[in-house]
Amino acid sequence: MPALIIDTDPGVDDAFAIALAALDPHVELLGVTTVYGNVPVEATTRNAQRILALCGAGGVPVAKGAERPLVHPHPHRARYAHGTDGLSGRSDVLPEPLSPIAGIGAVELMVSLLRQADEPVVLAPIGPLTNIALLLAAYPEIKPQIDRIVIMGGAVDGGNVTARAEFNLWSDPEAARRVLTEPGVRCVLVPMDLTYQCAVDVPWLDELAASGPIGAALRELTTDYLDHYTKTLGRPAVVMHDAIAVAEAIWPGTLRTEAFPLDIECGFGPARGALITDRRRRELIAETAPTDTEPVAVALDIASESGFDGLRRRLLGGLAQSR
Ligand code: BDR
Ligand code: CA
Repeated sequence: MPALIIDTDPGVDDAFAIALAALDPHVELLGVTTVYGNVPVEATTRNAQRILALCGAGGVPVAKGAERPLVHPHPHRARYAHGTDGLSGRSDVLPEPLSPIAGIGAVELMVSLLRQADEPVVLAPIGPLTNIALLLAAYPEIKPQIDRIVIMGGAVDGGNVTARAEFNLWSDPEAARRVLTEPGVRCVLVPMDLTYQCAVDVPWLDELAASGPIGAALRELTTDYLDHYTKTLGRPAVVMHDAIAVAEAIWPGTLRTEAFPLDIECGFGPARGALITDRRRRELIAETAPTDTEPVAVALDIASESGFDGLRRRLLGGLAQSR
């Protein structure tokens, strides 16, 4: 698999996603860049550093990115799901960071890593898309160095932060629109319709905790998150949105995708931040209001016969490392 850069706002599910990549001996995790989102960027940056330290990957460079959306600032955070510190109020179970934050910003670190790489690199943005929009806008010549961008975000049907919008796209709709309609880059969108189908239950979390110190620490981070999702789902389970996207990034072909023309609602009505998937027949699109935006692969299902259960087992196997 190609090398990987994760752009993230940890976040409990971000923590699991980072751990999945950091613990996989076949993955070359080149760097982690941070963005505001679930909590402010100072906290997401520190959380990312501490998760890497937990996973024995404290030398992976971490750079701090955007502290607000591109155009329209808003104070909203997701503490109701991820707790006061972004990690269920339990970030103290993690080791202290092993390395200082990079002396350059998130976009500059991505550019530097992409330029140095021998092969095109996979980007996995699992927070608001502000850093990635800035990267594509400021350094368009870097696009051939990007293998694909595997994004956790959006909802084909419904939403979580509002009735129509998913948190990551809603946090910065203008940035999301820039990334998802950018020519010359291959995006894969992993929406919450899919991630919800792969919720993990308490026995799964307990099995992880029993696997060793890393699994036990990860389980500790899920307390507030479990409370939130128990209310959301009506049963004791959690949704590991970002870990599903990173699974596709590091195990390409895990998810079954279909390509659709996409857009993001950037108006200020009740659908701000909503993903608009054009599922009309191509012939009809061509006849009515043709656009030149390239269709984007949207993950709709699991590719293998073992389905969601198989993916849950694979995630558990990836995280249950007793280093
Ligand atoms: C997304 O929003 C955040 O709260 C999660 O970390 C995930 O990236 C799910 O809507
Ligand atoms: Ca996230």
